[in-house]
Amino acid sequence: MRTHQNWWGVAVAALVVAWPAWAARPYRGGAVATAHPEASEAALRMLDKGGNAVDAAVAAAFTLGVVAPYHSGIGGGGFALVHEAKTGGTRVLDFREVAPAAATRDMYVKDGKVVPGLSTDGVTSVAVPGAVAGYLELLEKHGKLPRAVVLQPAIDAARNGFWVSPKYQAMAAMRRDCLRQDPEATRLFLTKNDKGEPDVPPIGHLVRQPELARTLQTLAKNGPKPFYSGPLAQAMVDTVKAGGGLLSLEDLKAYKTRTHEPLEGSYRGHRILTMPPPSAGGLAVVQVLGALERLRPKGMSYRDPEDLHLYAEAVRRVYVDRVKYLGDPAFVKIPMERLTSSGYIADLAGSIDPKKATPSASLLAPRENAGSTLKNPTDTWYDPASAPEKKNTTHISVIDKDGNAVALTTTVNYGFGSCVVAKGTGVLLNDEMDDFAALPGVPNAYGLVTGEANSIAPGKVPLSSMSPTLVFAKDDPKKVMLVVGSPGGSTIPTTVIQVISHIVDQGMDVTRAVGMGRVHHQYLPDELWVDRWGLEPATQAALEAKGHKLRKQEAWGDAEAVYSDPKTNLRYAASDPRNEGTALGQD
Ligand code: DON
Repeated sequence: MRTHQNWWGVAVAALVVAWPAWAARPYRGGAVATAHPEASEAALRMLDKGGNAVDAAVAAAFTLGVVAPYHSGIGGGGFALVHEAKTGGTRVLDFREVAPAAATRDMYVKDGKVVPGLSTDGVTSVAVPGAVAGYLELLEKHGKLPRAVVLQPAIDAARNGFWVSPKYQAMAAMRRDCLRQDPEATRLFLTKNDKGEPDVPPIGHLVRQPELARTLQTLAKNGPKPFYSGPLAQAMVDTVKAGGGLLSLEDLKAYKTRTHEPLEGSYRGHRILTMPPPSAGGLAVVQVLGALERLRPKGMSYRDPEDLHLYAEAVRRVYVDRVKYLGDPAFVKIPMERLTSSGYIADLAGSIDPKKATPSASLLAPRENAGSTLKNPTDTWYDPASAPEKKNTTHISVIDKDGNAVALTTTVNYGFGSCVVAKGTGVLLNDEMDDFAALPGVPNAYGLVTGEANSIAPGKVPLSSMSPTLVFAKDDPKKVMLVVGSPGGSTIPTTVIQVISHIVDQGMDVTRAVGMGRVHHQYLPDELWVDRWGLEPATQAALEAKGHKLRKQEAWGDAEAVYSDPKTNLRYAASDPRNEGTALGQD
């Protein structure tokens, strides 16, 4: 009996020690995490057919645009980091939307004030879409499978339909008025209520998109050309022009993706590669982690109020830099070398008072009576009452069996983008123009303030928060250990930072790293956001005692991550439990 008990003890102890490896299902082949089961399945199918991480990511991206049109789609744009195991090289593709040639700095301003809704709803908010060029370029340059194979899951999903989920309902409810303005969007994405008005469809309703299936089939057959200079281009321009928008055939013809060097940082011996401008996200990841390493060289204790305070203060300062310096690097000179230098990050860390919160206004004075770009500012997704489902944009993380990796974040911006569908094509157009500073200092849909560097100009890329990121193994700076990214507008960089810190500092398995409660600051509003289950009351009180004003939020973000154990090469994938995604892998 005694011996038995001892054996049980040994077994339990072994389980506890081995916990990180037990907490999620290990896969010996490739693994993927996305925000929708159909997209993860599409990605897995590509891996099973012998495709690589790029084939999987592109299949997922096209599928997500069909089954989660409130997040992303071929009328949007995004960023991707592609890591090739064989060469150890990582490339960045920027296929974000650009402002139409006819766009002007003050196009959303009247009598010195931003006209709410113009940059978020309808044809006036549409920027030149880049997703088709981006997804297909990724495939062409780095994929292995034929285009028709990779697009097939998306084509099938568009033709056969997908069922309305709670998330769909929340997004459609948030954008109901906007969707009702467009007859095509109304027909596709709403159903009639008891009063005969277009409304949020019931759970289980099948959303079929036959026009989109045809469009995707055209792309599978002919590549991106018809989208940028053929009949699809004409249809998009006709729809936008008819409503008084700016998109032209010349804009579409001139659209080009861009390549950049990845932005490099490090955290406790792990090399990090992330998205450079026109994303502000990667810089925030690099600066904040750099500051935390200096402030706590021996590692962070989990959710210690002292650590949380340092984290919040570092983030606050980084978001001030965002306002001051960041915009499209093709248009503004950003002092990147200085902003990422060790001296600068040390100064940033050194400027933090460990005892008390620095009021945001003392770092950079906010604009008086700034208002918002939204028609109804309480519509903002960060309203405390907003449901956790009300989040858009999407991220795909993949590592294949050979260790190639893709981090791809893609979006139509706000829920259902502009709510405009180009007639006869099924293409839902973005409202990415809202990511510009409609008027420097006026918050956008994410409550985000940006500055002069992010003002509107023809052909310019609006500043983004999207932060697809790769973290490498400590003893091998060319071996990917973690692929991570998230939606969440302004909260994207802090979500990515926290997932990385949870793994590197706490040794959490990827499932918990992604699922733990989150804490966020963004300079303005001057509040520390705490998500549901984020912090215990005593911790909250300790932070309040340091002068932080807490805002309790339901939840935000939808982190999608794949972790590859550097020792065993086993893969673990996690899709944020706040949402409806799935992580899958190969045995
Ligand atoms: O590029 C950006 O930063 C935004 N368009 C992303 C939007 C987003 O993540 C929405 N999530 N709530």
